[in-house]
Amino acid sequence: MKSRIPIYGKAVLILLVALVVFLVVVPLASAPIPGQLFGWYVVTTLAAILLYVSSTEAFWAEFVTPFRRLLLARGAVAKPLRICVFIALPLVVGWYFSTWAAGSAELPGGLRVVHPTPPSSLNFRGKRINLKEVVVNPLRADEAHLADNTEQGRVLYYKNCFFCHGDALDGNGHYAKGFNPAPANFQDAGTIAQLSESFLFWRIAKGGPGLPEASAPWDSAMPVWENFFDEKEIWQVILYLYQRTGHKPRVMEEGDHSGH
Ligand code: HEC
Repeated sequence: MKSRIPIYGKAVLILLVALVVFLVVVPLASAPIPGQLFGWYVVTTLAAILLYVSSTEAFWAEFVTPFRRLLLARGAVAKPLRICVFIALPLVVGWYFSTWAAGSAELPGGLRVVHPTPPSSLNFRGKRINLKEVVVNPLRADEAHLADNTEQGRVLYYKNCFFCHGDALDGNGHYAKGFNPAPANFQDAGTIAQLSESFLFWRIAKGGPGLPEASAPWDSAMPVWENFFDEKEIWQVILYLYQRTGHKPRVMEEGDHSGH
C-alpha cells in the first residue's frame, strides 16, 4: 500500500506528535520537563526524523528536492528568495544564541526572606537550646571576663569569618565576590543591628543549610559552625561582632521572636 502523505508531512507530523507528548502528555502524567532536557528531547527527535527521511533513496530524494531547488533554481523568484534565506539564517541563529540561549546570571525569581523567623529551640550537638529563653548573650552576665571573651571572639572571627565577611566586617572578604547571596555586611544597619543575639546564635550554628523553606531558593555559602565551634565560642564571636561594629543587639520581648 502506497502512502499518500508526502515525506515533509510525515516529518512535521512526527515532530508535532513528539511535542504534544513532551509538552502535554508528560506534564499531565508526571511533571513538566525541565528546559534543558526538553531541548535534548527535541534534538533527539529531529535526529530520529532525519534518520527516517534518509532511510530509503526515494524518501531522501523527495526530502532534498526543495533544498536543491532553493540552491540551484534560476528565475525571478528563486534568486531573491535564496539571497533572503542566506541573510536571514545567520541572523536568526545569531539572535538565538545572543538572547535565548545566552542564559542569565540572575538568581531564580521569587521573593526570599533574608531574615526568616528562627525556630523556638534548636538542637546544638545533641543539646536542646531554647532560643526563647535566651534574651541576651549569656556571656554578658560574666562582666569580669567580658573583655576576655570578646577578645576570644575577635581571634575566632579572624581565623574563620573574615574570608567572607571581611577585615572590616563589611561583607567584603576575599571570597565575597564569588558568592550569591553575598556574605552579610555586619556594619550595615540592616543586619545584626536589627537582630537578637539568639537569632545570630541560630544562624551561626546552623549556617546556610539551616535556613528554612521561606529563605529558599538560594544557596547561602554560610557554613554550619556547630561543626567547628562549641556553644561558648559562638557566643564569643557574637560579642565581638557587636563590640566591633558598635551596634546594639535587639533585645527580644516575650513572644516577639521574629528576625525582623
Ligand atoms: C564561606 C563564606 C562565609 C564564611 C567563612 C562565614 N560566612 Fe557568615 N554568611 C555568609 C553568607 C554568604 C551569608 C549570607 C547568606 C545567609 O544569610 O546565609 C552569611 C550570613 C551570616 C549571618 C547572618 C546575617 C544576617 O543578617 O542574617 C551571620 C550572623 C554570619 N554570617 C556570621 C558568620 C560568622 C560569625 C562567621 C565565622 C564564624 C561566618 N559568618 C563565616 C558566608 C560566610
